[in-house]
Amino acid sequence: MCGIIGYVGKKKPIPVLIEGLKQLEYRGYDSAGIAVVLNEEVRIRRVKGKIALLEKSLEDSPLDGLYGLGHTRWATHGRPSEENAHPHRDCTGTIVVVHNGIIENYLDIKESLKKKGHQFKTETDSEVIAHLVEEYFEGTLENAVLKAVKELEGAYAVAVISTKDPQKIVAAKIGPPAVVGLGEEEFLVSSDINPLLKYTQNIVFLEDRDIAVITPAGVQFLDFGGRKLQKKIDHITWNPMMIEKRGYKHFMLKEIFEQPQVVRDTLQGRLSLDSANVCLSEIGIPDEILSDTGRVVIIACGTSYHAGLVGKYFIEAMAGVPVDLEFASEYRYRDFILDEKALVVVISQSGETADTLAALRAVKEKGPQTLAVCNVVSSSIAREAAGVLYTHAGPEIGVAATKTFIAQLTAMALLGLHLAQVKGTAGNKERLRLIEELLRIPHRMEHILHDVQKIEKLAARFVSFNHFLYLGRWVSYPAALEGALKLKEISYIHAEGYPGGEMKHGPIALIDDKMPTMVIIPKDRVYDKMLSNISEIKTRIGYIVAVAFDNDETIASRVDEVLPVPPVDPLFSPFVTILPLQLFAYYIAAIRGADVDQPRNLAKSVTVE
Ligand code: AGP
Repeated sequence: MCGIIGYVGKKKPIPVLIEGLKQLEYRGYDSAGIAVVLNEEVRIRRVKGKIALLEKSLEDSPLDGLYGLGHTRWATHGRPSEENAHPHRDCTGTIVVVHNGIIENYLDIKESLKKKGHQFKTETDSEVIAHLVEEYFEGTLENAVLKAVKELEGAYAVAVISTKDPQKIVAAKIGPPAVVGLGEEEFLVSSDINPLLKYTQNIVFLEDRDIAVITPAGVQFLDFGGRKLQKKIDHITWNPMMIEKRGYKHFMLKEIFEQPQVVRDTLQGRLSLDSANVCLSEIGIPDEILSDTGRVVIIACGTSYHAGLVGKYFIEAMAGVPVDLEFASEYRYRDFILDEKALVVVISQSGETADTLAALRAVKEKGPQTLAVCNVVSSSIAREAAGVLYTHAGPEIGVAATKTFIAQLTAMALLGLHLAQVKGTAGNKERLRLIEELLRIPHRMEHILHDVQKIEKLAARFVSFNHFLYLGRWVSYPAALEGALKLKEISYIHAEGYPGGEMKHGPIALIDDKMPTMVIIPKDRVYDKMLSNISEIKTRIGYIVAVAFDNDETIASRVDEVLPVPPVDPLFSPFVTILPLQLFAYYIAAIRGADVDQPRNLAKSVTVE
């Protein structure tokens, strides 16, 4: 998934563009490039490979310019190469574009333009945008872009410059995100907010079919009909410091250690101990509608799906409402049945995941209430759902979700408590007990994070294993799924999360001395059943690591290694049991020398199908 950035303003553009591209690296990419304009001439530099290579090239052979564009490319059409890297030019070399998304009808456009004499240099879909703008250019750049986008089918966040209309960037968006930063005499456009925060906290999130015309004098917003728009300016409180690594080797490790504060920040201002109430008025769905909820349907992908599975257990236990959990990529294509009393909750930290956004749009056609749980203010999913419950995890740079997962668990607990409150399915006493348990969670998490050496040492012993089984039951089953996903996605070790009760239905055939098992076994209603799993594995000489509550002598006598966590209410045990699993995966990946923050083949937000 690509990243775009553009800068117009008082600074030299190249350092701004390069720094901005570094803030977009986590999205995953295989090539990078920039274009700057000086004295009516466009100068382009592109590399196949990392931004460091682009920086080196610019050091060896400097470029200068007054404004420009930058791009990190995640190849979708055309192999990774310098030639296919963005920015792309038109025939005259005076029009330049950077693009994130997929132009589905690019071949038809390419053929039609070739018949008009256009010469194409690349295998990409994106290049057709430059030639379309060239075809329609007369007068202003924005008019040419307005005509060009009318021919495009598919998804795009695109930024265009031209020496024929200098000191101007025109951006357009349908699908992938594009945000505009409004600084002091400097203005930027980017795929997300991180690159902008160094210059401004005043952000405009473009919506589908918005156009931004960016010049040193300011930004004019238009719709695809060319009509002027007044856009809401969001003031983002994240500060650039939150994006720096601050001494940690990887963003992922920093973000794991931020998790206790993330719980506090997401709970902040939403709990009342006096009334044992949860205050969620900001979500934008009235309590009288929520109290009428007959069923909750949670839709998400990846780690957010795992958070949704924990949410299922929370909501059913607290509010007594049936909960269905669905993969967005499946649900969007199903003939799903939804009654008007259903509450559909879409969970997405980025708020831009294409499958989740598509599922939300499909659901909205059926009419139920929709609630987004997002970490990015004014992201597409946050804007398109009827209500939004924001998590307050701050920017998550590591591709592997950690603190946003914990933030999502916190949001699920708040939602479960709120539904229990408005439906009267849990009395004040029980709600107060759960609220007090929630408020103790951050301190319990800090207890684990104060002593991680044992986890690091244990991880070192498993660096060369190629398979891992993760087992849990009840609320520890989603923890097993999430722990396995962490190991898979950053260390590339095959790991499978499984419900403990399913072992005898197949997976137990896998157990041998090359297939270690991670067992998550807090003292809860299924503790004895998990002990049986441990016995089954042990008799088959399987190696077992257990995540268990502190000082559990029973477990210590039955497994090979224990990763202890402080006891919490069993329902909330995923808040603590997931920490050793995140750290275990992190240390294995780090010792293996994997690209922890940007694992191969992965993107932080999957904004295309
Ligand atoms: C999890 O570590 C991955 N980064 C991935 O599974 C992610 O959770 C998934 O793509 C959903 O992203 P979202 O929360 O932004 O929708």
